[in-house]
Amino acid sequence: MPEGSAVQRMFSGIASRYDFANRVLSLGLCVGWREQLVAAAKAAQPKTVADLATGSGDVAFALRRDLPPDCTIVGYDFCEPMLELGRIRARKENIALEFRVGDCMSLPIATASQDVVTIAYGVRNFEDRAKGLGELRRILHPDGTLLILEFSQPNAWFLPFHFVHVRCVLPVLAGILTGDFGAYKYLGTSIAGFPDAAGLDAELKAAGFSKVCHKRMLFGTVALHQAQA
Ligand SMILES: C[S@@+](CC[C@H](N)C(=O)[O-])C[C@H]1O[C@@H](n2cnc3c(N)ncnc32)[C@H](O)[C@@H]1O
Repeated sequence: MPEGSAVQRMFSGIASRYDFANRVLSLGLCVGWREQLVAAAKAAQPKTVADLATGSGDVAFALRRDLPPDCTIVGYDFCEPMLELGRIRARKENIALEFRVGDCMSLPIATASQDVVTIAYGVRNFEDRAKGLGELRRILHPDGTLLILEFSQPNAWFLPFHFVHVRCVLPVLAGILTGDFGAYKYLGTSIAGFPDAAGLDAELKAAGFSKVCHKRMLFGTVALHQAQA
């Protein structure tokens, strides 16, 4: 698993170009995947939501758009330059959304205080996944819902295409778009080394979550995991 401080430095370096690169590299598909996460969050009818590893807040803004105004939504990340982009956008668009510094290894959030915890493309970067998943469970209300959107391992027939895309095409394209070839080499390595959906489900159960399930998307390259605290 990657070292937290290295991940922090890497995202600080690409913060200003991250959103643009994300949309181009996923051919816009990331928007639809995010909408599925938001729909699942909405179905839980939460009053408090923490969007972890929020980055510049794409998920938090989508949640704010779809959840009622009396639902409190706060975005947390350990990378200040990413958070600042979210704050600037919130001010510019006059959206009531708060962004706070928080490391998923030890969050500044009270125990059992959140109805829903969302995290998109963050768990893969955890320095210690078991510790991080335990921390996500700690902050959730006993009936609370965890929603994880993350890259996953595709169906066997799609593996060769996926391998070439993730290991060769993606790092080069992303390097051109962001000017940081190293960061996206890491992206390829971290995706390839991440467990498949069943594997992450098993880790969630080991962390104490119940009613664990997932939905695989785009031949399993991405998965939306849901679990109860
Ligand atoms: C790939 S970005 C995802 C951002 C956003 N969730 C999205 O969907 O676009 C990953 C983010 O996770 C953050 N991150 C990684 N490990 C973290 C940790 N331990 N605590 C808080 N944030 C973390 C990084 O700083 C980065 O902003």
